[in-house]
Amino acid sequence: MSVRHFLKVPDLSKAEFDHVLEQAAVWKRSPLSDILSGKTVALIFGKPSTRTRVSFSVGVYQLGGMPLYLSEQELQMRKSESIEDTARVLSRYVDAIVIRTFAKRDVEDLASASSVPVINALTDEDHPCQALADMFTFMERFPDPVGRKIAYLGDGNNVAASLAEAGAMAGVDICLCVPQGFDLPEEKSAGIARLASEHGTRFWVERDPEAAAQGASALYTDVWVSMGQQQDSGKLEAMQPYRVDSHLLALARPDAVVLHCLPAHRGEEITDEVIDGPQSAVFDEAENRLHVQKSLMAYLLAGR
Ligand code: CP
Repeated sequence: MSVRHFLKVPDLSKAEFDHVLEQAAVWKRSPLSDILSGKTVALIFGKPSTRTRVSFSVGVYQLGGMPLYLSEQELQMRKSESIEDTARVLSRYVDAIVIRTFAKRDVEDLASASSVPVINALTDEDHPCQALADMFTFMERFPDPVGRKIAYLGDGNNVAASLAEAGAMAGVDICLCVPQGFDLPEEKSAGIARLASEHGTRFWVERDPEAAAQGASALYTDVWVSMGQQQDSGKLEAMQPYRVDSHLLALARPDAVVLHCLPAHRGEEITDEVIDGPQSAVFDEAENRLHVQKSLMAYLLAGR
């Protein structure tokens, strides 16, 4: 059987997606195991990280394995040797590779030459591990997710794309509320629309933040300027009406939750009163990175 990678949410079948989220709840209740005993997981980071790096490191340790942090800047990869050769060599030492870098193509090239599972820990195009935690958190609050609506407000970025894919697979309608000019890439958007159609869910773009918030079971936002992007005053100006504040939250369902992948730029995309308020599930969402990633590794590395 060929090795399984997780580069984007739909790399899991619907049954696998459901399994990983169901098992995440089990890992949350009962965190320690030896299923990765004797195994090493390389964690390559080419961008800063708090949640992803720590949750993968702790998660591998709690499963009985050894996490091996590798700064991309200190590797030979892409400097003295190809990404593919790095993959071939690491595959001789470690049992899985988690990578956070810039271009999707680089992760695909790494995976193409790796004989151990590769897990995408964020590229410019996707953030699939985050999306698993997002949907797990949403389903903790709403065990009946099918037909509910999540409104994503802000920049059409990697987090929005993976959230929309995970929403489709969980039966959740995703309203992407972004200003004109800050949409997802066309090809990505078309792929999400196809996925939503396959799973019988809705995925649509809404320009009006108030319309997006109405009837939503969750309001989701992310930073307006992602890692590696230049500050852009025009973009910040365009984003102002999309800030998740108490006015927008009051338009959502009374039991709606607020989600944010963190780190947050408080006062920009989200106000203090919302992120610290009673409807915020943001810090549960950060914790849940640990549980879903353990579940994902247990599945990909140990068939559990
Ligand atoms: N949400 C997220 O990926 O956080 P880090 O950048 O801190 O890993």
